[in-house]
Amino acid sequence: MSHKENTAEVESSNMTGTEDPTNDEMLVQTDVSDGLSASTSVSETTNAETIIRADDINVWYGDEQALQNISMEIPENSVTAMIGPSGCGKSTFLRCINRMNDLIDVARVEGELTLRGKNVYDDDVDPVALRRRVGMVFQKPNPFPKSIYENVVYGLKIQGIEGDYDEIVEESLKRAALWDEVKDRLHESGLDLSGGQQQRLCIARAIATDPEVLLMDEPASALDPVATSQIEDLVEELAEDYTVVIVTHNMQQAARISDKTAVFLTGGELVEFDDTQKIFENPESQRVEDYITGKFG
Ligand SMILES: Nc1ncnc2c1ncn2[C@@H]1O[C@H](COP(=O)(O)OP(=O)(O)OP(=O)(O)O)[C@@H](O)[C@H]1O
Ligand SMILES: [Mg+2]
Repeated sequence: MSHKENTAEVESSNMTGTEDPTNDEMLVQTDVSDGLSASTSVSETTNAETIIRADDINVWYGDEQALQNISMEIPENSVTAMIGPSGCGKSTFLRCINRMNDLIDVARVEGELTLRGKNVYDDDVDPVALRRRVGMVFQKPNPFPKSIYENVVYGLKIQGIEGDYDEIVEESLKRAALWDEVKDRLHESGLDLSGGQQQRLCIARAIATDPEVLLMDEPASALDPVATSQIEDLVEELAEDYTVVIVTHNMQQAARISDKTAVFLTGGELVEFDDTQKIFENPESQRVEDYITGKFG
């Protein structure tokens, strides 16, 4: 099977909204036990503001290397954008952070990726518990075939988290800037919403369990300009409470909403990682400048 076919297969299983919720997205929402939180103290060498640190990450799919020696430090409560041409490894990197690559048989990850100082690839880390702390929103909105209300509380129920669900639903939908549009139809199907509303519902579902990090893989690329700008506003707001790592093909979007930008180029290389303003106004690398100004890619 070619790489592309394999990718499509994995991703489509994340995206179907019509089947019963047994796909990878549900795994992101599922908790068993929390093997990670007991050992999350910030190590002495880690900058207190760094929440995610990649140290020499290499990823292979079979014999094909998809990421090469990736090192970066992602600051907390900020938006970090990942940009670069198709196939350069942006989604692969995102999936390293919450170990979604574990679900791809041929994928092999080497190197260290720490979340608040703890290597998420250590043997004692439960990937399912990790995914509770690191939520994910996919390119294509994928609400479950359930009511709006049940979509939002899904992760809580699966994880056995108790609380005032009505209040959590209202709060999560408000934070996802969807409450006013759906408050009178909470028990209608999430699939009956518009694409932009569905994506905000998926964001509400991801934040209902109170993750620390939100990974977003091109969350607005299937949406119209109005819905896109709503998602952009939302991302900026979310960064007050969460660390957002967002993949986008839209340079203006990266420039508008992110604090830091990572530029990956073909071959799975991280060519430059810096403050967004610096990347867009005065990048160190000629290749980055050429990419940003549209000379290639
Ligand atoms: N499940 C997989 N199995 C095999 N190869 C894969 C798989 N997923 C990705 N790859 C390969 O790894 C490389 C990086 O892919 P990745 O999806 O991370 O790129 P990307 O930067 O997200 O691209 P795009 O912008 O098109 O989404 C590509 O060569 C791709 O074909
Ligand atoms: Mg991708």
